Amino acid sequence: KDIHQEIDQFRVDSPEQLEQFRMRFISRKGVITELFEGLKTVPQADRRAVGQELNGLKNFAQERFDTFSQQIDEQRTTSGGTPPVDLTLPTIPNLTGTQHPLSLVRQRIIQIFERIGFNVADGPEIETDWYNFGALNFPDNHPARDMQDTFFIAKAAGNEGDDTPNDTLLRTHTSNVQIRLMERQTPPIRSIMPGRVYRNETISARAHCMFHQVEGIYIDRNVGFKDLKDTLYHFVKELFEPGTQIRFRPSYFPFTEPSAEIDISCQICGGKGCNICKHSGWVEIAGSGMVDPQVIANCGIDPEEFTGFAFGMGIERITQLKYVVNDLRLYTENDVRFLRQFEGL
Ligand code: PHE
Repeated sequence: KDIHQEIDQFRVDSPEQLEQFRMRFISRKGVITELFEGLKTVPQADRRAVGQELNGLKNFAQERFDTFSQQIDEQRTTSGGTPPVDLTLPTIPNLTGTQHPLSLVRQRIIQIFERIGFNVADGPEIETDWYNFGALNFPDNHPARDMQDTFFIAKAAGNEGDDTPNDTLLRTHTSNVQIRLMERQTPPIRSIMPGRVYRNETISARAHCMFHQVEGIYIDRNVGFKDLKDTLYHFVKELFEPGTQIRFRPSYFPFTEPSAEIDISCQICGGKGCNICKHSGWVEIAGSGMVDPQVIANCGIDPEEFTGFAFGMGIERITQLKYVVNDLRLYTENDVRFLRQFEGL
């Protein structure tokens, strides 16, 4: 009862008094805690009633304290004193996004090719067999189609009921855009085509069922293998560290002849040998070649008059080499600890 009265009569007009109030009635060293401790000595029969009484007292003190604190805060703001804001608290972190590393590298690749006269072209990700394979010289049922494990998704319109194979698919490369461009335009054609592609692969550190490519094509009179080499040498010099070595290795693609794969000296170990280059010192970054005359003819362009080259590369792979990314899955997991590393690039 005495304490109740004491609380009731307590006046708080300053932060100091508020603190006195807190020390006396609220804090763990205050009188109310002390009373609670005394509860042990109360006879069992009365304990419950006394306990309830004490709880009431405790709540009363807390209510008073809250009202007083609010009054003191208001006093501070209205009197122009220190605002009730703790300026020593850490700020709320500023969570602006960063550019995704694949976007950064795609932009950089586009920039390099735009400066030497290539424009950017686009095409569908859901494609027919013809644009993804047929027009590119992959014969029907030819094992070359197995080079790229394909997601076939539907039959062509009109064939739904019969036993013809599915011929609508997710494109396995952006070469479909090359065909669409050559069909629509007359040379000179000088374009790159960045985009998403799909292959039926088990997801692991090294493979994914969805990734990104940039392919390029140049068709004109008198375009030769030298132009292909010059263009890609320039590209590698611009994108990678100075001193990067480049080599052309004979290869095979159904739509180019001759064909070459392009290797660069490993960016990770500088050619000394590491896991990324499987200790060879070289990593493959692109496929390329002179566009097969049959492919040019498939698109209604005269291969006697026009020749050209094409190339294609994976953006994930280039990003891996440029920024030492050792697991492809990082690109799609959206872990901010990974993404933040590209802040400001
Ligand atoms: N389309 C090929 C691929 O996806 C790459 C390529 C493009 C090769 C152009 C040669 C010329 O693997």
